[in-house]
Amino acid sequence: MKMYQFLKVRHHKEFMHDIQSLFVKNIIGNTQARIKERGTAFAPSNIALCKYWGKRDAALNLPINSSLSISLGHLGTRTELRVCDEDVVYLNGQLQSLDADFAQRISVFLDLFRPALGTVHFEVRTENNIPTAAGLASSASGFAALVMALDDLAGWGLDKKELSMLARLGSGSASRSVFDGFVQWHAGDKPDGTDSFAEKLPIEWPEFRIGILELSTAKKPIGSRDGMNRTVETSELYKSWPKQAAANLETLRTAIENHDFPSLGETAECNALSMHATMMAAWPPLIYLQPETIEQIHKVQRVRSEGLEVFLTMDAGPNIKLLFLEENETAVSAAFPDLKMIKPFGAEE
Ligand code: PMV
Repeated sequence: MKMYQFLKVRHHKEFMHDIQSLFVKNIIGNTQARIKERGTAFAPSNIALCKYWGKRDAALNLPINSSLSISLGHLGTRTELRVCDEDVVYLNGQLQSLDADFAQRISVFLDLFRPALGTVHFEVRTENNIPTAAGLASSASGFAALVMALDDLAGWGLDKKELSMLARLGSGSASRSVFDGFVQWHAGDKPDGTDSFAEKLPIEWPEFRIGILELSTAKKPIGSRDGMNRTVETSELYKSWPKQAAANLETLRTAIENHDFPSLGETAECNALSMHATMMAAWPPLIYLQPETIEQIHKVQRVRSEGLEVFLTMDAGPNIKLLFLEENETAVSAAFPDLKMIKPFGAEE
């Protein structure tokens, strides 16, 4: 990297950090920390039925559109924090190099909270029970668990709305992972980000099932932050996205309230494919789908036309998540033998 580019990136990072630090300060306010020996928390992973795609503010991670997700029950991240002499990060029991991306993201995020706690360092132990191979993003549950473990360690007693806004700074979708069940993230419209947080919908649907189809471990062409920016800046199709997302979200809410599965499935599938259409219309084009993805999309359509009620959703990657009900568990497993089955409202197995 040339010197002036390096300085530009550094200034940008410092600017983002300052804005985020101020946001954290305003939320924690004058709440006195009573630091315990250790703080722990669990946060579930989540899958959006109405996707978040596009930021209206990069530093505060404020979305252009509201989104709605389903949390994955006991699948997610458990994090344990202790105060110690220097930052140490473990992932699934393995010590991580502090230069590696994973530890860097954690350490930079913790920097936002250090001023409120005095000059402290942390031992961070984080365990993901989401099979990494399933291609499910762990950043949502990861940042949610980290914020909740910090709150436990510091004894701030923040409420879920505040925790959601803080988790949002780490990764947008993390704002939804502080809750289980169906969750809506309100985009908000205030420039200061204080009305952009997630809320749980008070509805259970025990028969709801999600199946993960791991199709490709190919490296993503581009991460979600850059992918969103490129789509917002260059995709002609993106212009219709906010309106569609708002309409889809309303339909999904009604479908969830009425336990109307066909309406939920159709809307979620159309929403995911529309998001991919906006990405493909960006320049340079963003194509996260692999040949296997396309093959399975056709297969889902085929088995559906034969009468099996199964729908799909996808994030910014090649893997597919199937949506179906308990009554079709056996038939869906028979049609898709390598499925990893998830019961979002089920007890731990
Ligand atoms: O939270 P991020 O920055 O990793 O972005 C998530 C983007 C999608 O997974 C594609 C959609 C969503 O709402 O989770």
